[in-house]
Amino acid sequence: MALSPVALAPDQVLYEQVADRLQQLITHGTLKPGDRLPSVRKLRAQLSVSTSTVMEAYRLLEDRGMVVVRPQSGYYVKQTNLQLPQEPAATAPPRQATDIDISLAFEVVSLMRDPGLIQLGAALPALEMLPLTQLNRLMGKVLRDNAHLAHSYGTPLGVPDLRAELAKRMLDAGCSVHPEQMVITNGANEAIYFCLQALTQPGDTVVVESPTYFAMLEALKCLRLKALTLPTHPRDGISLPHLEEALQTGEVKAVLLVSNFSNPLGSCMDDRKKKQLVELLNQFDTPLIEDDVYGDIYFEGTRPKAIKAFDTENRVLYCSSVSKTLSPGLRVGWCNGGRYHAEIARMKSIINQNTAIAPQLTVMAFLANGGYDRHLRQLRRTYHEQLLRMQQAVRDYFPAETCITRPTGGHVLWLEMPEGFDSMRLYKEALAMGIAIAPGVMFSASGHCYSNCFRLNTAVPWSENVEQAIQTLGLLTKRQLAENFLRDDR
Ligand SMILES: Cc1ncc(COP(=O)(O)O)c(C=O)c1O
Repeated sequence: MALSPVALAPDQVLYEQVADRLQQLITHGTLKPGDRLPSVRKLRAQLSVSTSTVMEAYRLLEDRGMVVVRPQSGYYVKQTNLQLPQEPAATAPPRQATDIDISLAFEVVSLMRDPGLIQLGAALPALEMLPLTQLNRLMGKVLRDNAHLAHSYGTPLGVPDLRAELAKRMLDAGCSVHPEQMVITNGANEAIYFCLQALTQPGDTVVVESPTYFAMLEALKCLRLKALTLPTHPRDGISLPHLEEALQTGEVKAVLLVSNFSNPLGSCMDDRKKKQLVELLNQFDTPLIEDDVYGDIYFEGTRPKAIKAFDTENRVLYCSSVSKTLSPGLRVGWCNGGRYHAEIARMKSIINQNTAIAPQLTVMAFLANGGYDRHLRQLRRTYHEQLLRMQQAVRDYFPAETCITRPTGGHVLWLEMPEGFDSMRLYKEALAMGIAIAPGVMFSASGHCYSNCFRLNTAVPWSENVEQAIQTLGLLTKRQLAENFLRDDR
């Protein structure tokens, strides 16, 4: 995009004129939400104006809420300029503890290995977005340098240097923790499983958000626990008044939730809410298992704090992994168990002795060589752009009744259709056309809620094929809604 030099209108200062022209390009759609504005140097040359004029123009656009600045990256057209369909309201799941019924998850997860499908189902980063060349190179070196160590049993808690490095990284999430209380696990899911096991007995009740990440439901089922699902808002997560009511019953053994950019709603609590949540937990002497696998994937500003950052009594068990940012296959996750650390460490050593050493050393080497932050900056940009494009495609191809979430991080979108819509039917029809999605019932503890909803994974590089897949999903959705309308009208 090239702009011609600006002629100064007598009644307007130059930087305002530059800002207005850029604003026009945004409102006319030439510059789309998520697009990067030209660099200051480039625009200065194109318009024959000074650096400070361009800077002032960009600041003015920022004040007008048209653009956002991303540190060390530049100015971007803001997402809210996008006229999106409505946002789903807070959920209203049945509020009694239920036995869990989720038979579909296994099938959907098995499909994620099918290269013939457009993968909008499982919440997985496409491998081309990950630094595989560097990781493979580092792993080769790790194996050469540790020819014996890499094949031995390690200590159950994990490689000490990695535990220290990860404890240091938790400072970014506002948590000051001791490396000794870190346990390396095979991914975040294993960490969550150990935490649940450390805190509960079969038959106990655990509070979860609703909809809920299905692997959490699977872990609860395996451990013969009951899920108490609470209303959850797509912007800021679980309802605290409802949580307080649940805690007052004395039945809740633990709370389990995703604090930042949850799966599937994409919600993220603000600091005030995180602090209030910890106060409630303290008041009712209840532990919280916090899953923060998406915390590093924020689109604007700074990394959101973990709930653990507000944990005054060490009752938050923090779980995360590198599965969303570096490699899901290395299976490197971790847990800071707070006051429950000893029990989690015991569980780890009983159940699988230790996590494989070569992946731990590889992750350690990647974190230590300084490339991780650079990689994260790029990854956040890519995830954000892809999510914006998918939202736009949903706006363009789906029926007007569609509601869609507006996550400010992570890589999933939740779509809600009118009652009566059957996302299992959409799932089957889409599969037949080579597209995988995650139907809403997978995220329901009873297996009966959210049949009118589904989740899309946005961590796939944008391409014509992906756009066509969204178009196809939109057509299938429109057809089903039209049939429902005719049936109800009869
Ligand atoms: C919220 C959440 N937690 C945990 C995981 C899995 O993490 P890991 O692969 O490290 O076990 C996922 C993957 O989709 C997730 O969405």
